Amino acid sequence: MNQDATNKEIVVSGIRPTGKVHLGNYLGAIKNFIPMQDEFDTCYYFIADYHSLTTHNDANELPVHVKRSLATYLACGLNPDKAIVYLQSDLPQIPELYLLLNMFAHKGELEKCTTFKEKIRTPGQTVNAGLLTYPVLMAADIIIHKANKVPVGKDQQQHLEMTRTFANRFNHLTETTFFPEPQGFSYGESLMKILSLDGSGAKMSKSDANENNSIFLLDDDKTITKKIKRAKTDTGPTEKNSPLTPGIEALFGIMDCVSAPEIVADYKKQYADCTIKYGYLKLQLAEDLINYLGPIREKIIQLENDTDYLAEVVEKGGEKARESAQKTVDGVRKLLGIQYF
Ligand code: TYM
Repeated sequence: MNQDATNKEIVVSGIRPTGKVHLGNYLGAIKNFIPMQDEFDTCYYFIADYHSLTTHNDANELPVHVKRSLATYLACGLNPDKAIVYLQSDLPQIPELYLLLNMFAHKGELEKCTTFKEKIRTPGQTVNAGLLTYPVLMAADIIIHKANKVPVGKDQQQHLEMTRTFANRFNHLTETTFFPEPQGFSYGESLMKILSLDGSGAKMSKSDANENNSIFLLDDDKTITKKIKRAKTDTGPTEKNSPLTPGIEALFGIMDCVSAPEIVADYKKQYADCTIKYGYLKLQLAEDLINYLGPIREKIIQLENDTDYLAEVVEKGGEKARESAQKTVDGVRKLLGIQYF
């Protein structure tokens, strides 16, 4: 806990260890975690390893991905002296709350959830019950610490709405205000959506089979340049002040985050007056991305091998997180009458 921070609201967020962390994960979520740990007194940041089992079940890969995700958190600037960093599976209270929250979730609303509908369309994906109840487990992650703020990308908005629904149903049944209503959070104007480099307007996604559509934090300089050069764009605007097409919107979206504001403004002006040359913009963006991601990549590689340190971080974080989680579960059990003698 950060004793110097002034904001008493509780912050919770996590990422799934399903592979390499990409730029969308970083810009949409992790980047916000860092200043929040200074501003908010209690931040819980975890690795959602149970969630990853809904789609990925390779027992050899999981430990590698968990360690890499943890190393990524730390390389990006998470400070275990300020924030509580832990693994979801280290908190037995989460599956307990998940089970109880399942009584507050309706089958119909789970089936209507956009991410569920997308997942079950994925070729070869088994429609397991864990996929259907994914939002219930995510709600348990969040309300286990009675969170107020949840720094996430735009794609998690519907999951947050469902979290509020389940929490409110619990409050209503028990005639209490036991759970606060957690809200999505971003330091930007709204929750962020970094687009795929395929020009489709879809989000950059870990489940995209084509790795060229995403920039990963571990990509080397050459790969970054290659991916940006290959990013799909149109042939350029022909009418002044045209709206951005999805391909160029994806590049400007990234540029907004990694390039100097005057450079971005200059390219946007060139787009507006139809003088833009995408080749130059791509070279500039690749250079700025390389400078932006290089130091993070180096740190991930260094930390990923320091397994003793990683273990120490989650052991300490797990202890604190379990303490908070147990308080919540005790309260829930009592309010539901699970206390017989
Ligand atoms: P995951 O692992 O898919 O993504 C981690 C975070 O990255 C954000 N994100 C994006 N943001 C902007 N643009 C993108 N293209 C993009 N792609 C991903 C996600 O919004 C997320 O914030 N369900 C969560 C994991 C989770 C969780 C939680 C999060 C489990 N329990 C409790 C918060 C609170 C997920 O799938 O994240």
